[in-house]
Amino acid sequence: MIELAESAARAAGKILRERGNFVVQHKGAVDLVTEIDLACENLIRAFFAKETPGIPVLAEEGGGAENATTRWIVDPLDGTTNFVHDFPSYCVSIALQDQGNLQVAAIYDPIQDRCFLAESGKGARVDDRPIQVSNTQTLDQALVASGFAYDRRERPDFYLEYVKAFLVRAQGFRRAGAAAMDMALLASGSLDGYWEFNLSPWDVAAGALIVVEAGGRVTDMDLSSLKIDSPRVLATNARIHDEMASVILPLLGSGS
Ligand code: IPD
Ligand code: CA
Ligand code: CA
Repeated sequence: MIELAESAARAAGKILRERGNFVVQHKGAVDLVTEIDLACENLIRAFFAKETPGIPVLAEEGGGAENATTRWIVDPLDGTTNFVHDFPSYCVSIALQDQGNLQVAAIYDPIQDRCFLAESGKGARVDDRPIQVSNTQTLDQALVASGFAYDRRERPDFYLEYVKAFLVRAQGFRRAGAAAMDMALLASGSLDGYWEFNLSPWDVAAGALIVVEAGGRVTDMDLSSLKIDSPRVLATNARIHDEMASVILPLLGSGS
């Protein structure tokens, strides 16, 4: 299954690398979709229909398998805004959930032609090289990241409250614009912590498994277990998890 996930991610990633002409449409004021998102998703759906016909697919643009507990979970292009602007942080994200448990994950980074991979209980790697989360011990020494959901124009102050809290406590803050890449970079030690509200299953499924298999910790922001179907994610190198939670918990309100 890991080989299938990697093959599908790399095949879609080839479309991203070729960067042909594309039309951009709006799903919302700042939520874009391109012909490339759709081409990647169609390719991945056709691939799994042939290779694993018994396993349904949940993917961002076409939905499907919303209530299944065994399914492929696919973001054909995570970081569409970056892709449109040619800002180099975007990827293909694919996970296999088996009876509710994440089993296999692949995040393909077309910019660096590398694939982040994990299998439950078997560790995480980039291509053939094992990866581990960082050893950063305190938030004061940490590089943390976040992202802002597509309702950011409606409630900027809500998101900025959290950014402000981390700006004064962390060593640095980044918002690169692709949730799955953020988690892949956390798994390989380039980031130490990451939080984001209002994500979707396809944004987090693969990244969550890769982070955990690289030795990190992934929970809901209130420290309960991550809800794959309505995720608000706190993912860290495990060492700074409680400290990040101690910043987030007092801010968590009913509007989250
Ligand atoms: C988005 C990106 C972004 C995050 C948004 C996501 P998309 O995914 O991951 O970093 O902040 O919440 O929706 O729409 O580019 O696949
Ligand atoms: Ca996404
Ligand atoms: Ca997407």
